Amino acid sequence: MSQPDHRRLADSRFMRALRRQDVNQTPVWIMRQAGRYLPEYRATRSRAGDFLTLCRTPELACEVTLQPLRRYPLDAAIIFSDILVIPDAMGLGLSLVESVGPVFDNPITSVNQIGKLGIPDPEDDLGYVLEAVRTTRRNLDQSVPLIGFAGSPWTLAVYMIEGRSKTDFSKVKAFAREDPDAIHSLLDILSRSVSAYLMAKAHAGASVLMIFDTWGGILNTDDYERLSLRYMTEIVRHIKDHRPDVPVILFTKDGGQWVQNIAKTGCDAIGLDWTVNIGDVRHLVGSKVALQGNLDPDTLRLNDEEIEQGVANVLRSFGKGNGHIFNLGHGIKPDIDPDKVTVMVDAVHRLSQAYH
Ligand code: CP3
Repeated sequence: MSQPDHRRLADSRFMRALRRQDVNQTPVWIMRQAGRYLPEYRATRSRAGDFLTLCRTPELACEVTLQPLRRYPLDAAIIFSDILVIPDAMGLGLSLVESVGPVFDNPITSVNQIGKLGIPDPEDDLGYVLEAVRTTRRNLDQSVPLIGFAGSPWTLAVYMIEGRSKTDFSKVKAFAREDPDAIHSLLDILSRSVSAYLMAKAHAGASVLMIFDTWGGILNTDDYERLSLRYMTEIVRHIKDHRPDVPVILFTKDGGQWVQNIAKTGCDAIGLDWTVNIGDVRHLVGSKVALQGNLDPDTLRLNDEEIEQGVANVLRSFGKGNGHIFNLGHGIKPDIDPDKVTVMVDAVHRLSQAYH
């Protein structure tokens, strides 16, 4: 147990890459690095009883956050939680149903429900997450940055209106079409909720903040600007006004065609899924922001040589120089062999030296 060493944290490869400073190797972490592909995660989850109890028990959330760092020399930890804890704290009643995914007992079905939603108080309503951040910060190696995260307002609104994760988005799209005022008032409440929550996470010990916009990519370009990017911009501005020292990463899945606009939000880094060429994106925006990504998650199903080749291709595509954080293009899948992650992480550290 120790206090964070702010100088060592600021000097870590991950923080330096976010600031586009020199590093000796490209830093790497993995979206969903704590999760079902790890047997030790499954054991802790069954000890907790279920996923939500795991999220709500700070010692256990800390334990699963640290598990992947014991196995692999990762350059960052991400606090174990979920984006849906905010709607849950707003009273929607989250549960995680086996083989269905997250489900809300009280999804938003009418406009008057929106008027009744309050902004959760981070300490009072989501104190268990902040306690998990504090506990993890104390137990994590002093030189390893901890990432705090939230869902984008649009992505949270999708879940709150659709009520579950497997969906065709017809309800939320109808809502946005038929009642623009209502959707904007929901997005505004969510934007203020996410801002307060992320600030509290930074205060509790998160060194970096990331916004997951998993469903931004289902929108057309105008709607992406109006319904998703605009609210993420407000959150970035809020964080930068209060904590300019905390880097912010924005990840819009399927958002590759909008990277120039994402770069204008004032974020420090853009997360990329695997559908874009990271070198092309670097030419468009690499002088403004760092880039995080973007190996196809299915590469981890291949043999070791092919995994190395996949890593080599991403590194070569980004090319020489600073501002790259290696990651998968989306979360690691539950049926991946944990040894494949060793191959990927080692390849990133070894092969990237030639680029620095
Ligand atoms: O990256 C990490 O290691 C931190 C943990 C993390 C989880 N969820 C844990 C989790 C993070 C960053 C998230 C974010 C999240 N949650 C997103 C955005 C990222 C993305 O994947 O696009 C979304 C859309 C959610 C909502 C959510 N939570 C879904 C759709 C599911 C079910 C899907 C699935 O994989 O079963 C969850 C549950 C969930 N969140 C699990 C984990 C490890 C699986 C729970 C379990 O069965 O143990």
